[in-house]
Amino acid sequence: MITSTKTTQTYSKAKPFIGQIQACTLLNGPGSDKKTYHVRLDLTGSNIKHKPGDCIAVIPANDPREVERLLSYFSHCPNKTFLNPRTKVPITLRAFLQTCVNLTRVPSKLLALLGLDEKFPNLEACLASINTYSGSLEAFATTLAPMLPRFYSIASSMQAAPTSVDLLVATFTCDQGGKLRPGVGSHFLCTLADQSTPIPLYHQPTKHFLLPENPNTPIIMIGPGTGVAPYRAFLQERIATGSSGKNWLIFGERQSTCDFYYQDEFISLEKNNQLILDTAFSRDQADKIYVQHRLLEKQDAVRQWIEDGAIIYICGDAKRMAKDVLETLATILGDHAAVRQMRTDKRLLLDVY
Ligand SMILES: Cc1cc2nc3c(=O)[nH]c(=O)nc-3n(C[C@H](O)[C@H](O)[C@H](O)COP(=O)(O)OP(=O)(O)OC[C@H]3O[C@@H](n4cnc5c(N)ncnc54)[C@H](O)[C@@H]3O)c2cc1C
Ligand SMILES: NC(=O)c1ccc[n+]([C@@H]2O[C@H](COP(=O)([O-])OP(=O)(O)OC[C@H]3O[C@@H](n4cnc5c(N)ncnc54)[C@H](OP(=O)(O)O)[C@@H]3O)[C@@H](O)[C@H]2O)c1
Repeated sequence: MITSTKTTQTYSKAKPFIGQIQACTLLNGPGSDKKTYHVRLDLTGSNIKHKPGDCIAVIPANDPREVERLLSYFSHCPNKTFLNPRTKVPITLRAFLQTCVNLTRVPSKLLALLGLDEKFPNLEACLASINTYSGSLEAFATTLAPMLPRFYSIASSMQAAPTSVDLLVATFTCDQGGKLRPGVGSHFLCTLADQSTPIPLYHQPTKHFLLPENPNTPIIMIGPGTGVAPYRAFLQERIATGSSGKNWLIFGERQSTCDFYYQDEFISLEKNNQLILDTAFSRDQADKIYVQHRLLEKQDAVRQWIEDGAIIYICGDAKRMAKDVLETLATILGDHAAVRQMRTDKRLLLDVY
């Protein structure tokens, strides 16, 4: 049985709380080819009450250098005010480009407005092709997609940190027409923002990814990469509340020497007999070892835990990892119907993205 705690949601995309970064630490060590950060956000004064499994939604801002480059293609003064077509509130062109829109796409509506029928790798190349835009700002603004919030699993429990939240944020770049472009939200939190940057955010409670109501229930937490984030909150909560249920964490990343997030904390819990820890480091050897390989190796224990009433959690990559882990669980349980039944019974819970 799982319970859901109702949380009053005071803040939203339209009315966010303005938090601040308290700390931002790179968790990967030398030799890593990843950059994943531990980000602590100060929520003092927000009255946000979160529970393990919840997320924080961050509304990022675009890179000011990119905004300045784009502004150079406008005949309008960057401080010229116009009516934001979505909110109907006056805003300057600079602030609009910085905070209100997704600059990573070149929408077909924009091409139509500019009378272009070629494809462009990015917005800058598109504007450069016309040299200067001197048309209506409202018309221009209508063509762009809005800036959407980015969700991050809360990696801390209120029991451990009542006025802040920890996040585990993976940064990355993708190739856009030969140019490397960082992810908007992850770049904003981990690189652009500092302790004085306003961080618009709101609390997004989970409806389903919940700790069991019965503290004696064993839990198996499967979370490679940033998928481990909510489990840090789960463990903090279960330990602070003296829950006697067994905790089993199966974590995976690329290399054990440099990509083992929260290694000291997890090892210390393991030493205190508060956690059973298994790891799958995919690039420590020639053949890939993933979390599902560990599950399969320990299938007898997995079946026993399920028999003992365990709840299984899967968090992280939706495209490949979650599918493969579900497939492995079907192998362990005998068929897909058994996996479906566990999901129906809310004993197999997914938070994947
Ligand atoms: C419920 C939920 C919980 C989440 N929890 C976390 C979390 O705890 N930590 C976390 O880091 N993210 C988490 N995410 C993902 C997060 O919300 C963002 O999607 C992520 O940070 C990328 O956003 P961005 O603005 O940086 O990238 P964008 O500018 O939106 O670019 C996204 C593009 O980059 C690709 N991409 C996304 N991530 C990567 C990557 N790691 N490597 C390579 N390419 C990538 C996508 O396929 C897409 O094409 C969660 C998402 C959801 C829905
Ligand atoms: N669009 C993209 O190109 C892209 C790329 C990476 C991540 N992402 C997204 O970024 C988010 C988080 O990334 P992250 O940095 O936390 O971790 P991640 O990229 O998901 O990687 C964490 C670990 O999972 C392994 N892994 C890869 N495929 C797997 C599979 N099928 N089953 C089990 N494990 C697998 C990785 O191994 P190896 O890397 O050695 O295979 C690595 O050891 C996810 O949403 C993910 O979808 C997107």
